[in-house]
Amino acid sequence: MTEKINEAPIGVFDSGLGGLTVAREIMRNLPTERIVYFGDTARVPYGSKSKDTIVRYSRQIVRFLKTQDIKAIVIACNTATALAIDEVKEEAGMPVIGVIDPGAHMAVRATRNKNVGVIATRATIQARTYTTFINNLDPEINVISQACPLLVPLVEEGWLHDRITDEILMRYLDDVLEHDVDTLILGCTHYPLLRSAIKKLLGEQVTLINPAYETAKELEKMLAASGLANVRPMDKNEPYPYKFFVSDDAKKFKDFANSILPIDVTNARVVPIEEY
Ligand code: DGL
Repeated sequence: MTEKINEAPIGVFDSGLGGLTVAREIMRNLPTERIVYFGDTARVPYGSKSKDTIVRYSRQIVRFLKTQDIKAIVIACNTATALAIDEVKEEAGMPVIGVIDPGAHMAVRATRNKNVGVIATRATIQARTYTTFINNLDPEINVISQACPLLVPLVEEGWLHDRITDEILMRYLDDVLEHDVDTLILGCTHYPLLRSAIKKLLGEQVTLINPAYETAKELEKMLAASGLANVRPMDKNEPYPYKFFVSDDAKKFKDFANSILPIDVTNARVVPIEEY
């Protein structure tokens, strides 16, 4: 493997802005890695769409990311992971990781009373991927799942600290609370942005699992195992190791990205993703 391949970026994609929570963890934990991020802002949300559509969109994104000479792909979207990871792997022909396996491992380690809640999009909950992964690791764990279709639009709208968001969260979390969960997986990459609102409702006794952190750790292991890690520190003269692409409204994306990332995002560009 040439050094050049090691210096190639990681392709990270999501249906929109949520995957930035995963990109943020990669930036923090793997500071030598470059990133090409794609947010499908024209077609978000994926969580209310069929498997066929999610697979088609995901394949198009992989084909676009491959034009950017990437070395690996992180599916920074639970919905695309749940519905399309096999097809993404097939299309990619390079190492691919999703967010569900790392999140499931983290939850299994965290729970004490073996009642684990999962909140996610409707498509992710219907695919039962979290339940399957968790019960493969520990069949005794009771997984309580709740689809929360209104949360993604609220996050995309930027209503992270809002009375209406709190009320909707309360309604969704009612059932989860009744089942005495001690661990709750934020099973959509948009939801960590609602972390403080969720924490306020659930209190300190419930551990919130953000699969993004574990995904970054898993990525680190995968890159090391496949000899793809970039060990060279980033050149100080290289102004921009991160590239951002979207399918619509680059300005809104940039504003949002700048509000949550530890870097200055100036270069988001619109890609005609249907052409890929
Ligand atoms: N952020 C995505 C996820 O993790 C999907 C949200 C959506 O597009 O519905 O599931």
